[in-house]
Amino acid sequence: MTDFSPLQSELKKLITSSGPMPVWRYMEMCLTHPEHGYYVSRDPLGREGDFTTAPEVSQMFGELLGLWAASVWKAIGSPSVFRLIELGPGRGTMMADALRALRVLPPLYQALSIHLVEINPVLREKQKATLSNVRNLAWHKHIDEVPNGPGVILANEYFDVLPIHQMVKRETGWHERTVELDSHGKLVFGAAPEPTPRFEVLLPPLVRAAPVGAVFEWRPDAEIMRLATRVREQNGAALIIDYGHLRSDAGDTFQAIAHHHFTDPLQNPGEADVTAHVDFQALVRAAEDLGARVHGPVPQGDFLKRLGIETRAVGLMAKATPEVSEDISGALKRLVGGGRGGMGSMFKVLAISEPHLISLAGFADEEPAEKDQPE
Ligand SMILES: C[S@@+](CC[C@H](N)C(=O)[O-])C[C@H]1O[C@@H](n2cnc3c(N)ncnc32)[C@H](O)[C@@H]1O
Repeated sequence: MTDFSPLQSELKKLITSSGPMPVWRYMEMCLTHPEHGYYVSRDPLGREGDFTTAPEVSQMFGELLGLWAASVWKAIGSPSVFRLIELGPGRGTMMADALRALRVLPPLYQALSIHLVEINPVLREKQKATLSNVRNLAWHKHIDEVPNGPGVILANEYFDVLPIHQMVKRETGWHERTVELDSHGKLVFGAAPEPTPRFEVLLPPLVRAAPVGAVFEWRPDAEIMRLATRVREQNGAALIIDYGHLRSDAGDTFQAIAHHHFTDPLQNPGEADVTAHVDFQALVRAAEDLGARVHGPVPQGDFLKRLGIETRAVGLMAKATPEVSEDISGALKRLVGGGRGGMGSMFKVLAISEPHLISLAGFADEEPAEKDQPE
């Protein structure tokens, strides 16, 4: 990583000419600037990259999500065309694993029309290579481009990269947090001089009472509203998996990760993944307001166990060498366990669905999806 990224000089010029920029705009530019944005210029995944995600930890993750999609297909009456949509599909690993699992259900496999929503040209190429033997596959820049029809939407570690607004509480009220330049020309956090009028009326009571200096983060509801409208009108469900909190609360979670370590989000913009935790309560509220049914959120560990991940691990280990078996056991721990490096409790799973879908696999202790597991 260089000390001075090309985007940094562009941001400095912009702030010098137009003044401090809101954190959401800074985050948006870091991630999706057309030339230097983090998600337009690289594959950030894997050991040599910046971070590892659940599908890259083990094939079991994508397989179980595929079987979860199958359970939704059955629940909505096994339609003859079923759209399997993934938002931010990374290297295509999760989709490849899901599709392999779905081969055990030929009527569903025949019905599938697959849609990848991806803005990253480097990752699109990887997805093309990973899914080269898949038919009925289309790419889109936006979910609105996906044709209508019943289906399932999968979004793993997608919402955390959508830009957030940060508000800082002062004696005078809640001020939009900004990125500006200090007297040495260094990027630093600041705040808009005037408070946002009546912002506190939008806040949950717990946050309204936060002390001066507290930070509150919020994401525009546009994306969750699109998903809620789609599942309600077109039939089906969406599954959102991400790190975040169950209740809306004050706290600064804006962070940057490069080479598997946290770094300063204002250093080397465009060279590190900048994200913020997902406020699941806000997603629930927005989805319910639009008439979608909400399932969960539940911890990822509970969700995967209910779908039968432990049985799947035993099945895979039975055919594996001792070394591979140890890897599978380590992956299982990472996906369902808590503690340092564990994703099981830090990551939450939320589904939203057409309102008549009363229960979905993985959200209550019933009906494990393991019956149809692949060989
Ligand atoms: C953190 S990665 C997660 C990748 C994958 N879901 C996984 O779990 O391995 C975020 C993904 O979202 C994509 N992405 C980022 N911003 C996006 C946007 N605005 N629209 C569509 N995809 C986006 C990235 O290119 C990448 O594929």
